[in-house]
Amino acid sequence: MAKNCLCLTGKTIKQNVDLLNKYRNYADLAELRVDCLDGDERLYIRRFPELAGVPVILTVRRDVDGGYFSSGEGARLKLLANGLAYANADSRFNFAYVDIEEDFNAPSLEEAARTFGTRIIRSCHDLNGIIDDISTKIKSMKRAGDEIVKVAVSVKSTHDVLNVFRASNTFIKQDKILICMGHYGIYSRILAERFGSFLTYSSALSENVIPGAPGQMDVRELSELYHFKRITKDTKIYGVIGNPLKASISPWFFNTIFNLENADCVYSPFPVTDINDFLDLAKGLNIQGLSITVPYKETVLPYIDEKSAIVQSIGACNTMYRKGDVWYGDNTDYAGFTASLLNFLGRKDLKRRKITIIGAGGVSRAVAAEIFKMGGKALILNRTVHKASNIASRYNFRWGGLDNHGIDLMSKFNDIIIQTTSVGMEGYDEGDPLETYEFSGKESVMDLIYTPAQTPFLKRAAAAGCKTLNGYDMVIRQACLQYANFFDREIPKTHLSQIYSLGANGWDRIASG
Ligand code: ATR
Repeated sequence: MAKNCLCLTGKTIKQNVDLLNKYRNYADLAELRVDCLDGDERLYIRRFPELAGVPVILTVRRDVDGGYFSSGEGARLKLLANGLAYANADSRFNFAYVDIEEDFNAPSLEEAARTFGTRIIRSCHDLNGIIDDISTKIKSMKRAGDEIVKVAVSVKSTHDVLNVFRASNTFIKQDKILICMGHYGIYSRILAERFGSFLTYSSALSENVIPGAPGQMDVRELSELYHFKRITKDTKIYGVIGNPLKASISPWFFNTIFNLENADCVYSPFPVTDINDFLDLAKGLNIQGLSITVPYKETVLPYIDEKSAIVQSIGACNTMYRKGDVWYGDNTDYAGFTASLLNFLGRKDLKRRKITIIGAGGVSRAVAAEIFKMGGKALILNRTVHKASNIASRYNFRWGGLDNHGIDLMSKFNDIIIQTTSVGMEGYDEGDPLETYEFSGKESVMDLIYTPAQTPFLKRAAAAGCKTLNGYDMVIRQACLQYANFFDREIPKTHLSQIYSLGANGWDRIASG
């Protein structure tokens, strides 16, 4: 099974020991990045394996390979030799591995390492891209039978990741480390076992230390959220595709449920640049189900064999799942929104209800369609007025701008207000889309944003006495419908109530402890 290697990039030996002690439960082994240590601290590396109490990799990474060592090869050789010197008969007191780059030639050092059971990791790093023929590279790098070849490449596309995955399949029996560095390779780290990698590197990112390499994940997140150590060749893989893949609640939601169910499943983020390449990869990884976000909800349509009625009618898909070789497509966004709104209002439809929709983007389009279907009448207000009119005219709704005239129009559409813009969202624009609107207190107000749990807009509404709801319930409902597609069953109520009790920030809390 792939191991979780905590990359230690602290400035002092003590800092690294403290980090290791804090995260020991998650790490199978550690890598001492000597290049990150302060100068004097490098004198004491020989004692580190004894202090660590887990197998340790000795690494002095050069700046040209993405590390911080720039003092020349002579000095580097000396450091490596110091680390491996005075080998102890008890191998726990020696470095278990030493990372030596493919162009580093020190036969006597290698011989000494082998004699005392230190395994050589023969590494190569491509910081600018991806090596053309990775299979040939792996084959050519290995100098002796017991070496572990490590190839770390910078992936810039799904095609690059696919190339690495294909290469991993050509050397199934060989211990090797394959790392796709960067944003598009994040799932090669979570699914290291399926990429045939001997280990994956993680960092204590919440501890204010420098990450060992671009794209390394937090050690606790990898263990607690993705249950890295449980992932085997048989684990069923699910995930979310998008580009750029914004912070999504789905990995937290699904992995939390899988954990509560003790299911042998994992749900990964898949930042994707090309659907065709990704679906090739999905086949290779035997991915069972996918959530689809921007910008692929329409792009995936040609790849779906069986579309649900809603996908056929609206031409957008947010859920793909596989039965054998057949891909099914569904869209749970609409039903998730409708169920959430009706439950909030305690109604079965929206007949005789007058509604204001704020915003006229993709989400607003879906909201307008559902309101129309449920018999409601709406006014759409948007910063860019013609976008509001485009949607409104389809359903014989009214429209206006986010201005005084729009606010005047609202007096006849104020039973329910639905806020669909990104204004108020954490990390985007923490303002209020309709600052001058004064709530009477009688409106029912739904804001589709769920981070923060209360936008300034929703806060104002609640303060005025309005009934309010954020978007958390809606995303959970649409995710529950995805789950039902994936597994042909409903989520047990007890598990769902835990998801609700954790609330919109539960995923944050889990990730940050
Ligand atoms: P989504 O798919 O989430 O709906 P979108 O299609 O990009 O995303 O739409 C974003 C919505 O938020 C639009 O209604 C946008 O208004 P414009 O059509 O005028 O761009 C609205 N929006 C984004 N930033 C805004 C801001 N600072 N003030 C007011 N409206 C804003």
